[in-house]
Amino acid sequence: MKHLISMRDISKKDILEILEEAKKMENLINEKKTSDILKGRILANLFFEPSTRTRLSFETAMKRLGGEVINMIDKGSSIEKGESLIDTIRVVSGYSDIIVIRHPNEGAARLASEYSSVPIINAGDGSNQHPTQTLLDLYTIIREVGKIDNIKIAFLGDLKYGRTVHSLVYALSLFKNVKMIFISPKELKLPEEIKEDLKNKNIEFEEKENLDFDDIDVLYVTRIQKERFADMNEYERVKGTYMIKKEHVEGKDFIIMHPLPRVNEIDYEVDNLKNAKYFKQSFYGVPVRMAILKLLLEGR
Ligand code: CP
Repeated sequence: MKHLISMRDISKKDILEILEEAKKMENLINEKKTSDILKGRILANLFFEPSTRTRLSFETAMKRLGGEVINMIDKGSSIEKGESLIDTIRVVSGYSDIIVIRHPNEGAARLASEYSSVPIINAGDGSNQHPTQTLLDLYTIIREVGKIDNIKIAFLGDLKYGRTVHSLVYALSLFKNVKMIFISPKELKLPEEIKEDLKNKNIEFEEKENLDFDDIDVLYVTRIQKERFADMNEYERVKGTYMIKKEHVEGKDFIIMHPLPRVNEIDYEVDNLKNAKYFKQSFYGVPVRMAILKLLLEGR
């Protein structure tokens, strides 16, 4: 693996190798040990969209492995003077050993990888993919449910624009006997091409509009993303469609995941229930990103 752009580029074997490495990294963090395997290496964070978790967990991951981090956001950079993404990548790949990029345009990370002399990691490109989120989601499932094969998972919320959903659905299709339920308003259904892909692989799924999820192992909740809507009237119609409350969860065994940030889709009273794993999930971003950095930089 030279770059990490899409879950479609990596095999189940690669995924399992990253998850195994992430467990070693989690042990390192829990034992309060340090490592200097990336000493002398520099990570460049290029974020053209807001981020808390992805940017800071990459920074934490690099520092925990002894590396350094430089940051660029669109405000205050020469992007404001009209510099292109391609020129920016050519310049920054001369300053760093690895680049993490988030961009509002689908395909931006792939384009960056064509002009970069160092590995590119896609930290989210529009509504397309968010592969490092998917890897930490898979890690959360294995740590909190104990398996990925033979699970039943319900996805809830913005399934049309949600890149975390698109990446994770694809990744789960590589595992055995995973059943999926897609719950969304009709305006925000999973894109047809993703459903076609599932049908071609004989993956069992159903679509619903109501909060009907019996017998599941994972409830994966997503935010309805105002920033992705071209028509604000459509956003107004669908915002606040769902809110997970205590009564939907109490007495049930499934775990609740959310890539975060949450806005209104999970009531704060749910946070104290044993089912709520979304803050644990965001913590797992650090060991998983440590593993990704190690595997991409090792031997280079
Ligand atoms: N889950 C996620 O990508 O969060 P941020 O937008 O805060 O990075």
